[in-house]
Amino acid sequence: MAKKKAYKQTTRLVHGPSHSTKWDFTHHVTPPLSSSTTYRLDSARRGARGFQEFGHYVSDTGEAPIYIYDRLDEPTRSILEGELAEAEGGEACVTFASGMAAISAAMSSVLVPGDEIVAHPMVYGCTHSLFVNWYARQGIGVTRVDMNDVAAVRKAITARTRILYFESPVNPTLELIDIAALRKLANAVNAGRPAERKLLVYIDNTFATPFGQRPLEFGADVVLHSLTKNLGGFGTELGGAVICPRAMLPRLLLYRKDFGGILASKSAWSILVYGLPTLAVRIKRQQYTAGKVATWLEKHRAVKRVVYPGLESFPQRALARKQLVNFDGDFTPGNMLYFELDERRVDAERFVDQIAAEAYSVTLAVSLGHTKTLIEMPSSMTHSAYSSGEACAAKGATPGGIRLSIGLESPTDILRDLGAAFDALIEKPRARRTAASRN
Ligand SMILES: Cc1ncc(COP(=O)(O)O)c(C=O)c1O
Repeated sequence: MAKKKAYKQTTRLVHGPSHSTKWDFTHHVTPPLSSSTTYRLDSARRGARGFQEFGHYVSDTGEAPIYIYDRLDEPTRSILEGELAEAEGGEACVTFASGMAAISAAMSSVLVPGDEIVAHPMVYGCTHSLFVNWYARQGIGVTRVDMNDVAAVRKAITARTRILYFESPVNPTLELIDIAALRKLANAVNAGRPAERKLLVYIDNTFATPFGQRPLEFGADVVLHSLTKNLGGFGTELGGAVICPRAMLPRLLLYRKDFGGILASKSAWSILVYGLPTLAVRIKRQQYTAGKVATWLEKHRAVKRVVYPGLESFPQRALARKQLVNFDGDFTPGNMLYFELDERRVDAERFVDQIAAEAYSVTLAVSLGHTKTLIEMPSSMTHSAYSSGEACAAKGATPGGIRLSIGLESPTDILRDLGAAFDALIEKPRARRTAASRN
């Protein structure tokens, strides 16, 4: 190659070093952030080999892959994918620009018109919207059945059904789905099917994270994540991930290349360097606080119902103990809470508005798995795609329901802000007695 010094400074500034000994992946303590849209291919033959190999699983030969173009593959994202696959105990991982990009890719890369999905009635609002607004138009049938009613699921499965789809815990109701029971059902159905038409069990594990639940151990085929939430953890990056069997990898990579919803390497780097290393410590701290908040809310006279897997009153306690288990084998009820107020005492919307106006440690905002405690009303916000409060309520999220994602604040301060909002809105018993005694 010609000597760099023979070129003008402007050209040298454009090109920088033609080769560098300064790019060394193996000795970095913090993984480097690679951010190159395109890659030097060295020779036409090597470039052609890179294109040929793309999308095929190449076993680790110790040789770096031939990177071609960021939308195909990229080192920082690739390192994150390796870490996510390992955390879930899966064979492969493909990341995407958002949780919804991951969810839609995992389904659309498998389904053809005429295929069907059997899905739980309550799912994240945009996943519901994907089913009703898009799959209906694309000739993909979606039947909604309570996934804990295995007999009903069995009845809903036809020869065209390819995917059983659910979240567990369900957003926002925190209902759990018995993954092993659905695996057993899928095995029975698959006994008579060819490999390319197998029924697949998909779970969105966003609420629990791989730290709190590893669905592959219970028999799920595909695990989905919004990396925007607990895995990213700081509320700074959007992202999504599909953890899947190696056999699904080529189609998913092809899908991502052609539909283009890649995770930016800078986001991948943040999740890799900040999100994953702090996951366990964040969830442990947040669930400690969530337990305190849940217990406190359950005792409050203005609260009708609290749903938190760590409470004695949680209706699926045995399933929770079985499925929500962290890397050390400990029960991990998580950082998400759902509760309803006694509307005779406090109107839920007024309560949330009071928090928005006065609280410092609790923020009215959608999303979850943030360092900050977030409060929202699913039926009118994250799950408004259910089109009417009634439709949402029928699936377990009532119009007055409130979702809390617990952050890293002191539990005392969260309770102080929640308590202050109740105090501002509930007529004090003493004041009422005084008024009554005056009459
Ligand atoms: C359970 C669940 N899955 C998927 C998503 C979608 O993730 P994203 O916003 O990253 O597209 C969300 C978003 O709130 C979610 O709560």
